[in-house]
Amino acid sequence: MIMVMLIFLFAVLGFVFFIWLKADRSYQSSSSVASAYDDWTDDLLLERLWGEHIHLGFYRNHSELGDFRSAKEDFVHELVKWSGLDKLPPGSRVLDVGCGIGGSSRILAKEYGFDVLGISISSSQVRRAKELTRQGVSCSFQVMDAMNLQVPKGSFDAVWSVEAGPHMPDKQLYANELLRVLRPNGLLAVADWNSRDLNLVKLSFIERLVMGQLLRQWAHPQFASIADFRQNLIESPYALGLIQTDDWTSYTLPSWFESIFEGVRRPGAVFGLGPGAFLKGLREIPTILLMHWAFSNGLMQFGVFRLETNNID
Ligand SMILES: C[S@@+](CC[C@H](N)C(=O)[O-])C[C@H]1O[C@@H](n2cnc3c(N)ncnc32)[C@H](O)[C@@H]1O
Repeated sequence: MIMVMLIFLFAVLGFVFFIWLKADRSYQSSSSVASAYDDWTDDLLLERLWGEHIHLGFYRNHSELGDFRSAKEDFVHELVKWSGLDKLPPGSRVLDVGCGIGGSSRILAKEYGFDVLGISISSSQVRRAKELTRQGVSCSFQVMDAMNLQVPKGSFDAVWSVEAGPHMPDKQLYANELLRVLRPNGLLAVADWNSRDLNLVKLSFIERLVMGQLLRQWAHPQFASIADFRQNLIESPYALGLIQTDDWTSYTLPSWFESIFEGVRRPGAVFGLGPGAFLKGLREIPTILLMHWAFSNGLMQFGVFRLETNNID
């Protein structure tokens, strides 16, 4: 009996690994990113597993492990503090670029009193973000491409963007758009998955294979390094000052394993959606493990960016 179960288990894992290796979700255009997020939203799997935030958690102290959802909320508050947004008065206009299903936008509106516009390339995410936002919360959502923001120059007091940058095909244009819509002396809060500076240390053979999968599996055209994206912000025609950066890899690293453990902590979240959802969830595990490897071994870094004029610390 045990033998049969083991054979069955290996067959399922082998099948999932085969699908992972063969399937191609590589970046083609903004539409391929939109349809990837439409799928991830419509099947409800991500939301039921990880809640309203599609970003990593913040763990100052690794003994806090165990509550992935509250670590994600902590992340939002830490980035608010680090970028100085907590100094803005209630009613300030904030643009959330690549807002997912609105987790950060709602915290910024409810807990800091901001008037938030969240934009995403995925129409399913925008629909879901609206559904999840109660009446009276000062948040609206629109489908919009971050490469071509349909908002006037200087119209926001702060611009917020979390983990959207890896999907952007032109990092200079992304940086230009973030700064164009920000008013002078406005605040910037960007958090991103970055590669290390590949001009300084080239990819090894193994790293090249890993990097290929990190790009291909989750519709990423390219990762910028922290230094390169900082330079993009500085060189933008709309630059508003010097840019400060930090590396939050150690604060966010536990999130990768935590995101897998959530499936064990909440089996009902996955199984409740049927066997297809279970296989879909399993399919993401190799990429999550490679991400953990890449962030632990210095191939990837978790960069945060703010304007030097931000009044912080
Ligand atoms: C990893 S999710 C992060 C979501 C959200 N910031 C959060 O933290 O929950 C990346 C987000 O970027 C959005 N995105 C990717 N490319 C985009 C583009 N060209 N324009 C607007 N949004 C984009 C995706 O639709 C998705 O909402």
